[in-house]
Amino acid sequence: MTIQFELNGHLVQANSLPGSTLLEYLRSDEIHSVKHGCDHGECGACTVLLDSRSVNACLILMHTVNGRKIETLESFSTHEELHPLQKDFLHEGAVQCGFCTPGMILSLEALDREGSEIKETNVRDALNGNLCRCTGYVKPVKAALATLQKSSSTGGDS
Ligand code: FES
Ligand code: FES
Repeated sequence: MTIQFELNGHLVQANSLPGSTLLEYLRSDEIHSVKHGCDHGECGACTVLLDSRSVNACLILMHTVNGRKIETLESFSTHEELHPLQKDFLHEGAVQCGFCTPGMILSLEALDREGSEIKETNVRDALNGNLCRCTGYVKPVKAALATLQKSSSTGGDS
């Protein structure tokens, strides 16, 4: 089955084999920010934005993305300019191996887009599905609060 969707601002056509997942497609398309972790919806390493909501790409069957919009970290940063959340993660020392970091950034970006008040509790809730084996959560939460509270007070994008 051929499907069509938007990936990082570009219209894409892809063959969807029965049972194939969005994670398999993205990895085969060299979208390396999306990590292959548990493959069972438990680690959050494969988090992407699907119509601006954070989802685990390993749980999304390819045929269900037809006509939808997918964003990965590749659309938010370049080698020259990092996303504000990435800058604050670096500033706070919230990155060690970095395996979980793209997923965390996208979960936080989804929270920012919801437009609700940014508090420590909803930042922790947003990161609930993103497991980190290295840094833990204190520094990522601190970095997220630094970026998102700034963003919500200025009304700008994070
Ligand atoms: S690889 Fe998808 S949640 Fe772990
Ligand atoms: S920084 Fe290594 S898994 Fe989170």
